[in-house]
Amino acid sequence: MERKRILSGMRPTGKLHLGHYCGALQNWVRLQKDYQCFYMIADWHALTTDYERIGPIREYTLDMVIDMLAAGIDPEKSVVFIQSQVKQHAELALLLGMLTPLPWLERVPTYKEQMQQLTGRDLSTFGFLGYPLLQAADIMIYKAHAVPVGIDQQPHIELTREIARRFNFFYGEIFPEPECLLAEESKILGLDNRKMSKSYDNAIYLSDTPDIIRKKVSTMITDPARVKRSDPGHPEVCNVFTFHKIFSPAEVTAEVQHKCVHAEIGCVEDKKKMAEYLITALAPHQARRAELTKDPAQVWDILEQGRKKATIVAEQTMDEVRKAMHLR
Ligand code: TRP
Repeated sequence: MERKRILSGMRPTGKLHLGHYCGALQNWVRLQKDYQCFYMIADWHALTTDYERIGPIREYTLDMVIDMLAAGIDPEKSVVFIQSQVKQHAELALLLGMLTPLPWLERVPTYKEQMQQLTGRDLSTFGFLGYPLLQAADIMIYKAHAVPVGIDQQPHIELTREIARRFNFFYGEIFPEPECLLAEESKILGLDNRKMSKSYDNAIYLSDTPDIIRKKVSTMITDPARVKRSDPGHPEVCNVFTFHKIFSPAEVTAEVQHKCVHAEIGCVEDKKKMAEYLITALAPHQARRAELTKDPAQVWDILEQGRKKATIVAEQTMDEVRKAMHLR
């Protein structure tokens, strides 16, 4: 039986950190077992908010693909490609724009939120309003059955379903209504206990060297109720303990938990311990990163293969769409 198809994307607006790794990336890697996967670098989407800061887009694109491959996305199994290299996405987005009522776009929650949050730039643009419409085209052009995303993206998938339904109603059944495959949120917080994010300057990046990791970990907030070394700690509310649970061996995690609760280990020592296990856990990823970084031509070649595979599917869909809309 044909495996079901999924598509997901990431915008190249920065380097990937542990939040991306434990949230999206490892989920994408796992999904390769059960689905035919299309994984895309959404560079046009990056432009919707960063059209004035185009400088690093290509650099971030390459770096992101390197992290994807190093994490275990297998280009033999999955199609890895750059959105802007498959022009059919733009053609479909244009056509979907004909039948998408403006209020559907205006009521998307991320639209108003981001307008307010992303200060210092003018987002009263056509491209920014059309963000979820372009995303709908990304998904529909591969007739994806499901889309693995975080909860913040759920309204965009819901909108995609509505657009697909409206298209099918006018022009005939071409598109499946894609399901949202909600990825579990990463439990890891940033160094300051807020959500890990580039804009909070609280992230540990997949490309950070061991020394940078040690330094960052030493600044992590622990259990706020533990003021003195002799106070018993509460590992269940401590972000450092969350890291232990993910990156340290089970016996070490059990040991620090016991010692913390009994005030037998201080936070400084505990953080030092955790940093070493984190560095060890990331070492294989970083070794693969180093290999790929040395050979960018190989990475661009993988993207070229991905472009070809993606284009075949996208063009097939567009062929059906053009016929259905009497454009040929
Ligand atoms: N909007 C997504 C994000 O910011 C990125 C994205 C673009 C995407 N196109 C997509 C995700 C299609 C899933 C499907 O994370």
